Amino acid sequence: MEFQNLMEKRRSVRKYSADRKVSKEDIMEMIRAAQEAPSWKNSQTGRYYCLMSEEITAKFLAECLPEGNAAKCQNAAVLVTTFIRDRSGFKQDGTPDNELGNGWGCYDLGLQAENLVLKASELGYGTLIIGIRDADSIRSFLSIPENEIIAAVIAVGVPAEEPKRPKRKETEEIVKFF
Ligand SMILES: Cc1cc2nc3c(=O)[nH]c(=O)nc-3n(C[C@H](O)[C@H](O)[C@H](O)COP(=O)(O)O)c2cc1C
Repeated sequence: MEFQNLMEKRRSVRKYSADRKVSKEDIMEMIRAAQEAPSWKNSQTGRYYCLMSEEITAKFLAECLPEGNAAKCQNAAVLVTTFIRDRSGFKQDGTPDNELGNGWGCYDLGLQAENLVLKASELGYGTLIIGIRDADSIRSFLSIPENEIIAAVIAVGVPAEEPKRPKRKETEEIVKFF
């Protein structure tokens, strides 16, 4: 699909079809696309925990997401995204290179996330990036080590709705040229 078209076509999907599920192979393809993103000194600190089983996913949604967000993920595969702390944006001796600290790890993961959702869209899936989630419950549910910072949960599935494009700000509003 042409890139401009792909960017414009991607939407956050909050209703998924029960008829067809995402395959493990396709999830791997999305994660491979995520891995093509740039990262701080090529540190590649993003990590992915993929919930495919219906039983485990249902338990996860009940325990780790608020009800509203859990309802939006029905029939979807659920990816928990994390990054290794104190590496991207940090010197070898463990001191931060600048004031953003682990913000750079989060930045890298966000770049990967965009690749991932665009690849999902190209494969015919919808996605929802979720920031409102219970990180402590997620850590204990998936035994995520303390050296990983938990970021977004991403739902991936076959869309059962065609959301309208939420309005964007006028470009002139957000840009300054010097
Ligand atoms: C970091 C981040 C966190 C988000 N968290 C949530 C969330 O908790 N629940 C939800 O329904 N949507 C969430 N969204 C989706 C946004 O609401 C959505 O991207 C925005 O409204 C623009 O719509 P679009 O993705 O269709 O372009 C999140 C998006 C991002 C990037």
